[in-house]
Amino acid sequence: MSNLWQSGTVDLPAGKTIVGYGAGLAAHQALVSGRHRPRFLVSDRAENAGTVSLDGVPVLPVSALEALDPAETVVVVLAFQSQSVQKIFARLRPRGYIYGENLIDYDRFCFASLAERAREFLCRDLDRELFDRVHLSQQTTEADNRTGALGTFLIAELLRHCRDLGIEGDVAELGVYQGSNALTILEECPDVLRARTFHLFDSFSGFSPDDGAADSHRPLDDFRDVSFSDVERRFSDFENVILHKGYFSETLEAVQEKAFALAYFDADLYDASRDAIEALWPRVVPNGLMVFHDYVDRCVQLPKGETKPFRGVSQAVDEFCSRTDGVKRASFPETTHIVLIKSD
Ligand SMILES: C[S@@+](CC[C@H](N)C(=O)[O-])C[C@H]1O[C@@H](n2cnc3c(N)ncnc32)[C@H](O)[C@@H]1O
Repeated sequence: MSNLWQSGTVDLPAGKTIVGYGAGLAAHQALVSGRHRPRFLVSDRAENAGTVSLDGVPVLPVSALEALDPAETVVVVLAFQSQSVQKIFARLRPRGYIYGENLIDYDRFCFASLAERAREFLCRDLDRELFDRVHLSQQTTEADNRTGALGTFLIAELLRHCRDLGIEGDVAELGVYQGSNALTILEECPDVLRARTFHLFDSFSGFSPDDGAADSHRPLDDFRDVSFSDVERRFSDFENVILHKGYFSETLEAVQEKAFALAYFDADLYDASRDAIEALWPRVVPNGLMVFHDYVDRCVQLPKGETKPFRGVSQAVDEFCSRTDGVKRASFPETTHIVLIKSD
């Protein structure tokens, strides 16, 4: 069998049946990205598996895998969070699926289409070795990364883009949670961050009670499982990091005199997105970037039982762009990021 671990960032082997495991947002984003099309998807969550399709690809119960010969098949696990991916790997191993041989994760599956988009929007060739390191660090990190390995890799590449174009200014992450994305960025981009302050904004206790009216379908009790002392310990060796603990409505004031090369927003909700963009866009330097996670198609219909995507971020970003001049947009559905670039 070919070794997809080595070549997974290039192309899948020809002639194999590609099957996606998952029929939620990750599956939708992989299909929208559109480089490879699985013959079918299997789902253990979709209540109507067997009777529905996602973007034209049939969704079947997991038992459909039993009819396939693992030697002739590649299963792609279409889930964003590494804990979910690991659980599915564990289920597939006894069925003859081995990671790197006939089993691959979302990040490797979508690397090539992300690379095409980076070339198109940023004239940038993505660094495969950097991807491999970020991917590996996300398998072994103690903190939970909600940006995903491919997303963290994209942020690292965007920082290198700022370095290469001489875009000066500080860097911010709004929505840090346990700090996993920020930590990987610090480890992988020391040269970009050496002369800049990295501002990390979070309540470190979950969403603000003032936010969420526009996202009523979204559970609002997430992200409370954070120990701030663990976060402080994680960043204690980095002199260029400032932790801004509190709700954005109170803490963004502290950087109103700063200039930003890149501000990364990952806090899910409409109100927080709107507040962040209004406070920080004027602080972004010419050619600088504001990056938003969870920018998704607001009309997407997922099979019954799959978690609905958030809509608040897309709504806030679209509203802002429709009333603001001088914003170029680059969308990366592989990671659900949208990059706003300030015209000079
Ligand atoms: C999706 S998590 C961030 C994940 C992190 N970027 C990562 O990649 O692992 C969202 C975070 O946003 C924070 N958050 C949401 N709304 C906020 C607000 N209005 N003020 C401060 N923090 C907020 C939550 O506390 C939570 O930790």
